[in-house]
Amino acid sequence: MDFPLMIMSTLLAFLLLGGVLASKASSDISFNVNYNVTWGYDHVMSSNQGREIQLSMDNYSGAGFGSKLSYGSGFFHLRIKQPEKDSAGVVTAFYLTSHTHNRDELDFEFLGNREGKPYTLQTNVFSNGQGNREQRTLLWFDPTADFHSYKILWNHHLIVFFVDNIPIRVFKNNTNIGVSYPSQPMQIEASLWNGDSWATDGGNTKINWSHAPFKAYFQGFNVNGCPSINHNYYSNIQHCSSSKYWWNTRNYWKLDSNQQRAYEAVRTKYMNYDYCGDRPRYPTPPPECLSQW
Ligand SMILES: *[C@@H]1O[C@H](CO)[C@@H](O)[C@H](O)[C@H]1NC(C)=O
Ligand SMILES: *[C@@H]1O[C@H](CO)[C@@H](O)[C@H](O)[C@H]1NC(C)=O
Ligand SMILES: *[C@@H]1O[C@H](CO)[C@@H](O)[C@H](O)[C@H]1NC(C)=O
Ligand SMILES: *[C@@H]1O[C@H](CO)[C@@H](O)[C@H](O)[C@H]1NC(C)=O
Repeated sequence: MDFPLMIMSTLLAFLLLGGVLASKASSDISFNVNYNVTWGYDHVMSSNQGREIQLSMDNYSGAGFGSKLSYGSGFFHLRIKQPEKDSAGVVTAFYLTSHTHNRDELDFEFLGNREGKPYTLQTNVFSNGQGNREQRTLLWFDPTADFHSYKILWNHHLIVFFVDNIPIRVFKNNTNIGVSYPSQPMQIEASLWNGDSWATDGGNTKINWSHAPFKAYFQGFNVNGCPSINHNYYSNIQHCSSSKYWWNTRNYWKLDSNQQRAYEAVRTKYMNYDYCGDRPRYPTPPPECLSQW
């Protein structure tokens, strides 16, 4: 091997190793780097040097946390393990929200259930204050047994909700047919709270407090997001559509054919409610429903 080539390959090996180490380090960072506890401080416990957070809920309080920054695009994720056993009425949420009057919000809501009955995962999309876009999917695994990744892709073209790597919901930028699309800076939030007025069997199945405290566990506190820039109380996210962010590049403008197949299979097999198909509620389906694929 001649000398320059040897240097090159050594350099390359170092770069690769460095990349592996860097990505491992950044995917495994402490909660405090990007997040703050927002409520229920005494119901939050940190372990493994802040790499895992436990929220608990009893009949006195639940708890929640949120990102320090607001973002204008990204591929957001958390790994979550849901409360075990009888969790009817208990809701674990992971969402992005703008906290504005005309809010933009992208929600994952895990609806607990009586022991042995499946968890339902509800998703919703708010844009410019308009929500009422619930979809519900049964999970095809036991979300209380282990951590799973839940992800939200948000760029100018597409919003996708993923469970592990399976797309379960797609919301396209349909502004060209008059559907508003989330465009405001959003914070990442997660919480564990009492939803027994609505979450399980339409609110008929209540929390059994003899099983409290309920506990949800979170990991994965690195953030793949474009932070908004604040100028005199005005927060700017125009730079967040730049293709220098990988989640804005062409590969993320639509599902690839494998994702599309997985998406269709999950919808067919596990989706048990879609506002788009709820005729009593929407005699005429909202316009975005005609272009979900
Ligand atoms: C909360 O639960 C505890 C333990 O089960 C019980 O002793 C207490 O009375 C409950 N408090 C309220 C306000 O329901
Ligand atoms: C987060 O907590 C830090 C201190 O722990 C505080 O300085 C900061 O203002 C908090 N940020 C938000 C957005 O609440
Ligand atoms: C939606 O797409 C249009 C182009 O069709 C683009 O001009 C607009 O910026 C996008 N909206 C958002 C909020 O990303
Ligand atoms: C609540 O859980 C306790 C303990 O498992 C059980 O004895 C009781 O019947 C449950 N209550 C309801 C309303 O299911």
